[in-house]
Amino acid sequence: MKVLVTGGAGYIGSHTCLALLELGYDVVAVDNFSNSSPESLRRVEELTGKKVPLYGIDVRNEAALDKVFEEHRIGCAIHFAGLKAVGESVQKPLAYYENNLLSTMTLLKVMGRHNVKKIIFSSSATVYSTENAMPLNETGRMGCTNPYGWTKFMCEEIIRDNAKADPAWSAVLLRYFNPVGAHPSGRIGEAPNGIPNNLMPFITQTACGVRKELVIFGNDYPTPDGTCVRDYIHVMDLAEGHAAAIDYLLAHTGTEVFNLGTGQGYSVLDMVKAFEEVNGLSLPHRIGPRRPGDIATCYADPEKSRQLLHWTAKRTLKDMCADAWHWQQLNPRGYDA
Ligand code: NAD
Ligand code: WQD
Repeated sequence: MKVLVTGGAGYIGSHTCLALLELGYDVVAVDNFSNSSPESLRRVEELTGKKVPLYGIDVRNEAALDKVFEEHRIGCAIHFAGLKAVGESVQKPLAYYENNLLSTMTLLKVMGRHNVKKIIFSSSATVYSTENAMPLNETGRMGCTNPYGWTKFMCEEIIRDNAKADPAWSAVLLRYFNPVGAHPSGRIGEAPNGIPNNLMPFITQTACGVRKELVIFGNDYPTPDGTCVRDYIHVMDLAEGHAAAIDYLLAHTGTEVFNLGTGQGYSVLDMVKAFEEVNGLSLPHRIGPRRPGDIATCYADPEKSRQLLHWTAKRTLKDMCADAWHWQQLNPRGYDA
C-alpha cells in the first residue's frame, strides 16, 4: 500500500517514512520545507535503498495536492505537516491557525475527492487540560494554553466531524508526548532551526559546544527533584506507532484517539544525568527561573494503545540519549553540509 506522508521531510515524518519503507509500505512525501530539508528523505532513500517520491509543495495548495493524488494510488495519509513551536504560536497566532487548520482542511477535501478516506493525524499531549490527574488517558479533560495547542484541538474536531458526516471515513488521532532521539544510524535526526526550544536538542547542542550551558527551567516544582517531569519517547518507537495505527485504520471506521507515550516520567535532572552517564561526558548546566506555561508533570497512560494498536514503546532512556548524541556528533550543523 502507498502512504501519503505530509511533512515527510520533518523530524518525525522522516523517521516514520523510514519505518514504513522497512515494513514494506510505499511512501509518497509532501513538504514545503518551511522547517526541514529534502536531505532527510534523500538519506532515508540511502538507508532503505528505496525511492521516496517527494513533492516540494504546500499542503494548502489544493491544485498541487490534487496532482499528487492523480499521480499516485494513495491508500491512506499520515498528516504531520504543521507548525509546532509553542512560543512562536503565541507571537504569531494567525500564522499557526492559518497553516495548521487550512492544511488539514485542504488535505481532507482532496482526500475525499479522490475517495481516500483513511487519515492519521499528529496531535499532541498539549490538548489535555492542565487540570487532569496523571497519568493522562484519552478520556482526560481537554483544554489548551496556547494557539499551537488550540490548532491541534481544532484539527482533531475537524477530522472527527468530517468522519461523522461520512461513515466511510476512518481517522486515528495520535497524541504524542515528548519525542526525542534519532535513528541509530545517526543519518537522520532532529535538526531545529536556530536556538532549540526543546530539551533534548538543547542538551546535544550544549554537549558539542554549540551552546554554552543548559539552563534548567526551575527546580521548585512539586516533583521528586523539583524539576519538571515529562514522558520522553524514542522517535523510532513513535514512528512504529504510526505503522500500528495504519493496521487499526484499515480494520475500522470512525475516529479513535490514542496516546503515544511510554507511561514513564523522567525529570529534567534525570535526563541530564542519563545523558552524561550514557555518553561518558559532563554537561554544563545550571538552574534558572521557571519557563512560563510549563506544568510540573506530564506523562501518558499508554494502555489503550497497547490494547487496541498492539503497540508499546520498546526503547529505553539510554537508547534515546545515545542515539540523540550519535546524530548530533555526526551532524553538528544538522542537514547543512
Ligand atoms: P517538523 O517541523 O520537523 O515537521 C513538520 C514538517 O511539516 C516540516 O518538514 C515542515 O516543513 C512541514 N510543513 C509545515 N507546514 C507545511 C505545509 N503547510 N505544507 C507542507 N509542509 C509543511 O516537526 P515534527 O517534530 O516532525 O512534528 C510533526 C508533527 O507532529 C507536527 O504536526 C507537530 O505539531 C506534531 N507533534 C510534534 C511533537 C514534537 O515534540 N516534535 C509533539 C507532538 C506533536
Ligand atoms: C521539556 C522539559 C522544560 C529546555 C513541548 C510542547 C509540546 C510538545 C512537545 C508539540 C520542560 C525543560 C527545556 C531547556 C529546560 N510539542 N527545559 N531547559 O515543554 O514538555 O513540550 O514539546 O506538540 O506541545 O509544549 O517539551 O522539550 O520544551 O521541555 O529545562 O532549555 O525540559 O522546562 O520541563 P515540553 P520541552
